[in-house]
Amino acid sequence: MDRKFYNDRGVIARWREFLPVTDATPVISLNEGSTPLIYAPRLSALVGRGCRVFIKHEGLNPTGSFKDRGMTVALSKAVEAGARAVICASTGNTSAAAAAYAARAGIGCYVLLPAGKIALGKLTQGIVHGAKIVTIDGNFDDALRLVREAADSGAPVAVVNSINPHRIEGQKTGSFEIIEDLGDAPDAHFLPVGNAGNISAYWRGYTEWHALGRSGRLPRMVGFQAAGAAPLYHGHPVGAPETLASAIRIGNPASWGMAMEAVEKSGGAIDVVTDEEILAAQRWLAVNEGIFVEPASAAGVAGLLKYTAADAPEDGRALGPLRAVPEDGVIVCTVTGHGLKDPDIILRQSVPLAPPIQPTREAILALLR
Ligand code: F0G
Repeated sequence: MDRKFYNDRGVIARWREFLPVTDATPVISLNEGSTPLIYAPRLSALVGRGCRVFIKHEGLNPTGSFKDRGMTVALSKAVEAGARAVICASTGNTSAAAAAYAARAGIGCYVLLPAGKIALGKLTQGIVHGAKIVTIDGNFDDALRLVREAADSGAPVAVVNSINPHRIEGQKTGSFEIIEDLGDAPDAHFLPVGNAGNISAYWRGYTEWHALGRSGRLPRMVGFQAAGAAPLYHGHPVGAPETLASAIRIGNPASWGMAMEAVEKSGGAIDVVTDEEILAAQRWLAVNEGIFVEPASAAGVAGLLKYTAADAPEDGRALGPLRAVPEDGVIVCTVTGHGLKDPDIILRQSVPLAPPIQPTREAILALLR
């Protein structure tokens, strides 16, 4: 079978010279990347001081999350190396992306998921793309340990978790796009942190282009963990992480060292937001900016809202980096996954629909009066 699939818009096509690919690498792509950087007027007004806030909407990737950027590179390299199947542990989005890109490549896909802790949309994606789904009586950290053990024991599968360096390489292209759109790097970059690959990838992208003179500054990297799953914030693994933001329910992130280096070298911070703050930010973004993201994706915005509120804490770790943003500065918030991944969380908090009305003119006019 011909393993060369061509496309001219995806992450590899657009950023090939910065990625670990050659002419011999088959490009497994779904035209991911090139996601919009959306100006957020109401969020900007809350920050004040003439600052502008932009939302990098990664939920608009082909499988609905930022994972596609890394997965196109990881699957292309796996196929180049002759892999017949890939494997990953996941809180849902990595598995959805792995399943789709493996289907695209025509190879097998095993996904290890914490039983009962995966949002409906993500589970559905794994099923529809034909992945072999293994649920685990444990959490994401257990699942990732099993993936490592299987790989170390010589199982004939390529690991496509972010411990695979090709994933981080693909994900760093988010920074390139932001620099191209803004004409420079932002002053600060806010985003959610779970397994800590994405904050590491963005920092790598920013530093690579800064070294090449393609940007004039480096942003402060400000990552937010859920309060019940905040190992980087506390400085030690969390044995039983808990949060409604299931995508970042992780107690022992794989990219710990790289993430902390990004935070320290950039003058940023790792901070926490509660589940209530996450859900409120998800709702706020949907109602005030028209952008619907899944709960975990709202963690960066939750952080920004927390520190711009009238009752903002005076001692939080993100306060310093936020205050260091100059007047007329630029803040980017990455939102990592689409809201339709997890409709349950909204429906559970919402009032039931009113009973149906009669299909008559009187009934609709009475309602609209
Ligand atoms: N936001 C979403 C929607 C995610 O799915 C994840 C991670 C993160 C943020 C955190 O990114 O791990 O690079 O720090 N999801 C992984 C998964 C763990 O399996 O889908 P990170």
